[in-house]
Amino acid sequence: MSTDTPVQPKIRIDSVHKSYVIDGRQQEVLAGVDLTVNEGEFVSIIGPSGCGKSTLLNIIAGLDQPDSGNIELSSENSDKHSGTASGRLGRTGYMQQKDLLLPWRSVLDNTILGLELRGVPRKQAREQAMEFTEAFGLQGFEHHYPYALSGGMRQRAAFLRTMLMGQDVVLLDEPFGALDALTRVQMQEWLLQLWESMNKTIVLITHDVDEALLLSDRVYLLTARPGRVTLVLDVDLPRPRHYDLVTSPEFGVLKARLMEPLRSQIQSIQSAGRSTGQTA
Ligand SMILES: Nc1ncnc2c1ncn2[C@@H]1O[C@H](COP(=O)(O)OP(=O)(O)OP(=O)(O)O)[C@@H](O)[C@H]1O
Ligand SMILES: [Mg+2]
Repeated sequence: MSTDTPVQPKIRIDSVHKSYVIDGRQQEVLAGVDLTVNEGEFVSIIGPSGCGKSTLLNIIAGLDQPDSGNIELSSENSDKHSGTASGRLGRTGYMQQKDLLLPWRSVLDNTILGLELRGVPRKQAREQAMEFTEAFGLQGFEHHYPYALSGGMRQRAAFLRTMLMGQDVVLLDEPFGALDALTRVQMQEWLLQLWESMNKTIVLITHDVDEALLLSDRVYLLTARPGRVTLVLDVDLPRPRHYDLVTSPEFGVLKARLMEPLRSQIQSIQSAGRSTGQTA
């Protein structure tokens, strides 16, 4: 991003708290999370399972309310910041943790779901989607059904649906979680290229340290539940990036900075498990 254009926050989260009834008692899931994502940035959130990452994205997307704290989302379709959950609904492209493709719809008709929900006639929506199937690696598979696709293709179909929602803020919850290592690397490189050409603001949840560093401008590390931000790491590696960056010394230095607090968290989770007699 050019340094002489003013940086606009697209998402600003201040001191967000959230609790749920878990195992029969009220338990805190998010304990005062602060996070800022500026226009055009790629930000990743990493943290142990159950620390509230998906809860945080649900809150940003307006699918859930925080108990307290402030969320501001500034999207292209409105110049005012939307502080309420209902005000944020439909303002982000959200790819949830499962790809949630509808098995009875063809690939093409799955990708146009967001357009149809916005009232675009089906024929027109299909024409719009067809323009992108090649870039998303779906050409020739438009009329197949989801069960006949590979895992990587299913993810790309879900991606295209998310991108066709036409929002400039995109939330991705572990989009590569279910993929084998090779397909995952291919998808990461593909997403890098796509993002560099699309001018979107992206928030990505991942468990994969390499993935977070390779893709992001900044990484937020959350603690185990209740989640709070324990480290904010700026990833000042040059762009455009390619996968071979992961073997560079600069990458290794950043990885060590992220791994150290992550390791101590894992150790404290393990010792808490031992003291309550639980095993991992
Ligand atoms: N609607 C809900 N009602 C009750 N408990 C919930 C609800 N949503 C999430 N939780 C609980 O809140 C905690 C955090 O869940 P969340 O899905 O946000 O974690 P996560 O960090 O995304 O985990 P993972 O990495 O496994 O996806 C979990 O203990 C989960 O069971
Ligand atoms: Mg999750």
